[in-house]
Amino acid sequence: MARILLGVTGGIAAYKALELIRLATAAGHSVRVIQTDNSQRFVGAASFAAITGAPVLTTEWERDPARGAFPDQATPEHDPISHLELVRNADCFVVAPASANTIAKLASGFADNLLTSAALAASCPLVVAPAMNHQMWQNAATQENIERLRGRSVAIVDPEVGSLASRNEWGSGRLAQPATILAAVEQLVPRGQRPWDGRRVLVTAGGTREAIDAVRFVGNRSSGRMGFALAEAAAARGASVTVVAANVDLPRHAQISYVDVESAAELERAATEEFPSCDLLLMVAAVSDFTAEEPASGKLKKDGRSELELTLSPTNDVLAALSQLRADGQTLVGFAAEHGADAVETAREKLTRKGLDALVVNDVSGDDIGFESTSNEVTIVTANGDQHVPKADKLAIANEILDAVDVLHRDRAQASS
Ligand code: CTP
Repeated sequence: MARILLGVTGGIAAYKALELIRLATAAGHSVRVIQTDNSQRFVGAASFAAITGAPVLTTEWERDPARGAFPDQATPEHDPISHLELVRNADCFVVAPASANTIAKLASGFADNLLTSAALAASCPLVVAPAMNHQMWQNAATQENIERLRGRSVAIVDPEVGSLASRNEWGSGRLAQPATILAAVEQLVPRGQRPWDGRRVLVTAGGTREAIDAVRFVGNRSSGRMGFALAEAAAARGASVTVVAANVDLPRHAQISYVDVESAAELERAATEEFPSCDLLLMVAAVSDFTAEEPASGKLKKDGRSELELTLSPTNDVLAALSQLRADGQTLVGFAAEHGADAVETAREKLTRKGLDALVVNDVSGDDIGFESTSNEVTIVTANGDQHVPKADKLAIANEILDAVDVLHRDRAQASS
């Protein structure tokens, strides 16, 4: 657990600071926020106060009701100079998003608002996550300022390339993912006790492909986003995480191990090898139920055929087989994409048939959730009942799932001790 002081500057990406706080607090960290005036035009102090459970400061001239204490600390008797007390208590000061203007001020040592004064007074590590228009990011002045900060051992979390806030603009300057910023912070702060420290989590993600010939396959539409979000959320809680990734083309996380596979048989081999050393299995991958019996070694030719017959034979049910090998204390969670009204009923049957602790079901009949989408809506089915998790982005859903799995895993660990 660390005390993270978060400085938020003005920019559209200010809303992503809320997700950073949510991830940090879910990982057991204590967070306080300093905002610039401009940032309040994008996200109000009330949101940051609600999500941190602590007052938000903007100027040196306001009294801090918490007197510089973090949410995990008692409020001191005396009334210290609050911003100095806040940075003294912090294990890390992270500025996210950091605007071009604030970066310039930090590089030049300005102290013209509470955020820059606190940065100048900080003796803890400083992390800066820039976010701006790509021309501003590439401008030589900004790049020189960034190099000056790097030269002073400030950790820079580079912005990502992608579509930017202005319509039709694309380039480098988009704030890094909140999980990436948190990982940068966690590399600098003392590890301490995080809620999932010592837990080993195995995640399967993506969708398998069964070869028909040398260039074609039978596959499915799973993107791997849900599995990767779960892996990142578990790593942020302190778990050591391995992902068996079936054909996933998404950014990788430095603190997670990945084993890449293609077919159901390869996934089965990798998952069976990793399973004995995990405490928790999150089987998110869409595993093909059938595979081509005799894939052609070259490329199949039309050869004047009017039809092509493919014979598929069933694959093994990897999850059901692993559940047979389960050791005391291991928790197994399956994931099922279902269509329509009977989704939860079908899930309940699979839960029993495969011997699982939970089955997370999403109804993929709507086209705005599931598969390639960045958001999802699920129902977590367990022997004790169902929990509906309303539509949210996949990282938020991942954290809800981990909260539910946490309870199941503790029960299982208790039962086996
Ligand atoms: N699963 C697996 N091996 C398979 C098929 C599925 O391990 N050959 C796992 C999936 O990773 C998932 C869970 O089983 O966690 C449920 O997947 P789903 O495809 O819904 O289950 P099936 O038993 O294949 O049911 P259906 O007949 O509806 O396809």
